[in-house]
Amino acid sequence: MTIHIGATPGEIAETVLMPGDPYRAKWAAETFLSDPVCVNEVRGMLGYTGTWNGHRVTIHGSGMGMPSLSIYANELIRDYGAKTLIRIGSCGGMQDKVKIRDVILAMTASSISTPSRGIFKELNFAPCADWSLLSAAAQAAEAKGTTTHVGGIYSADVFYDERPDLNEQMTRHGILGVEMEAAELYNVALRHGVRALAVLTVSDHLITGEALPSADRESSFGDMVEIALEAAFAHR
Ligand code: HPA
Repeated sequence: MTIHIGATPGEIAETVLMPGDPYRAKWAAETFLSDPVCVNEVRGMLGYTGTWNGHRVTIHGSGMGMPSLSIYANELIRDYGAKTLIRIGSCGGMQDKVKIRDVILAMTASSISTPSRGIFKELNFAPCADWSLLSAAAQAAEAKGTTTHVGGIYSADVFYDERPDLNEQMTRHGILGVEMEAAELYNVALRHGVRALAVLTVSDHLITGEALPSADRESSFGDMVEIALEAAFAHR
């Protein structure tokens, strides 16, 4: 047990998928894993461990925003031995070519600040995805026929953004989408020498103002879970 995770050490798999929403963790575990067992419910942050194609997998919520994700990623890696962490979440599109329901694989994650800022100080560290996961996810997405974009994203500290000028600069510099967790996931994973990737579905669009109808969210989310699982166990 840790401060925020009630599981005993052996109850967490080396591969962890991390949706923001704990109920998404429950849904994904019950939909995609065999014999899912609830291993955490501290503060309502649900985690489940089961198997996928014979591989042990944990699906554990991260909560919203980098401070919340940072707590769970640190404990999963340091106390439970997680070696592969894949965020599965939604993002806002920031390019015309990026459409609602498309998948984004975050090669890098820019930010104004992350919980790791205190370590990096004046350094503009560039948090990046693990290449083996990124390339395997790109192949899995292509095999599924999912329209996929690979590139930089923005991990924001606020959902209700008051800086249209900054968003314009990011769009101008090719940033594909905005979410609120990936940069710190990459920082923590790189610090501990483990693999991380963010697989994101475009649920809303900053330029067009469109949003994914709630009825479509589940199936789009399912594609992302499958891409993440295939990437985690490619060549293994
Ligand atoms: N902003 C920040 N995070 C998000 C968004 C957004 O527009 N959409 C989904 N996650």
